[in-house]
Amino acid sequence: MQVIEKPKQMQSLSEGLRREGKRIAFVPTMGYFHEGHLTLMREAKRLGDILVISIFVNPLQFGPSEDYERYPRDLERDLKMAEGVGVDIVFCPQVYDMYPSNFQTYVEVSELQKYLCGKFRPGHFRGVATVVLKLFNIVKPHVAVFGLKDYQQYLIIKRMVEDLNLDIEVVGIPTVREEDHLAASSRNVYLNAEERKAARALYKALMEAKRLFEEGERSASKILEASRRVIEQEPLVNLQYLELCDPETLEPLSGDIKRALLAVAAWVGKTRLIDNIILE
Ligand code: PAJ
Repeated sequence: MQVIEKPKQMQSLSEGLRREGKRIAFVPTMGYFHEGHLTLMREAKRLGDILVISIFVNPLQFGPSEDYERYPRDLERDLKMAEGVGVDIVFCPQVYDMYPSNFQTYVEVSELQKYLCGKFRPGHFRGVATVVLKLFNIVKPHVAVFGLKDYQQYLIIKRMVEDLNLDIEVVGIPTVREEDHLAASSRNVYLNAEERKAARALYKALMEAKRLFEEGERSASKILEASRRVIEQEPLVNLQYLELCDPETLEPLSGDIKRALLAVAAWVGKTRLIDNIILE
């Protein structure tokens, strides 16, 4: 496994691989790996000849009061785990190489970034889209793999790729969960035992909505009300949003629904968690 720090070096390596006719599969990450990341890597491995991953905690996508400084990092552990799933190349750049002091170009996916997390994290998706476009230009992948746990991020990247004519296939992978059904996340390490137990309410709320939907309930307000009640029963969970929206445009849905994304974000202590399911 090769570990590359410099963007220029990564670019020429990828250029060489492409010239040899190799298909490059790419998984961008912020590190501190869990089973979700590893699942993406295993899947990506099957989609290309060479598997490149990136590890970069991107300052541009964190707000001033967010957890950039305290975001968990352990490069040594990550490199071992990456090697274990057969990663060929790890690209782990430094902040000053990605954002030199005269950096001033940004990408915005104007409509999709308005909804859900975008409402509460101004600038977040601009930071995500910008870094992912940079990583795409550096790694030059044929195919890139993203998790559906970050559903809005996945849609935004797909939109950017289409809008800017990037010649990259974007693949989405279903959410990987831990034993207690909590969606795997690097941020789960912030939770203490009590909070961890309380965090189950997110998945329970999604499942309550699914149960109603499968029993034939179609009223958006009734489904949301029942789902919200599950969260409100858990005093340690502070709901930020619970929304039913169009799975393509993310516009909020009301009245009777057919196919819908149910997305939730909540604070559990000082930790912000997100989760979602598709009702169909
Ligand atoms: P990060 O949170 O490290 O996630 C990297 C990738 O893993 C993303 O595509 C994310 O959706 C996926 N992922 C995380 N948890 C998952 C889970 N439980 N199941 C399935 N997939 C999961 O997302 C980012 O980093 C950054 O925003 C990034 C795209 C790297 C840009 O900086």
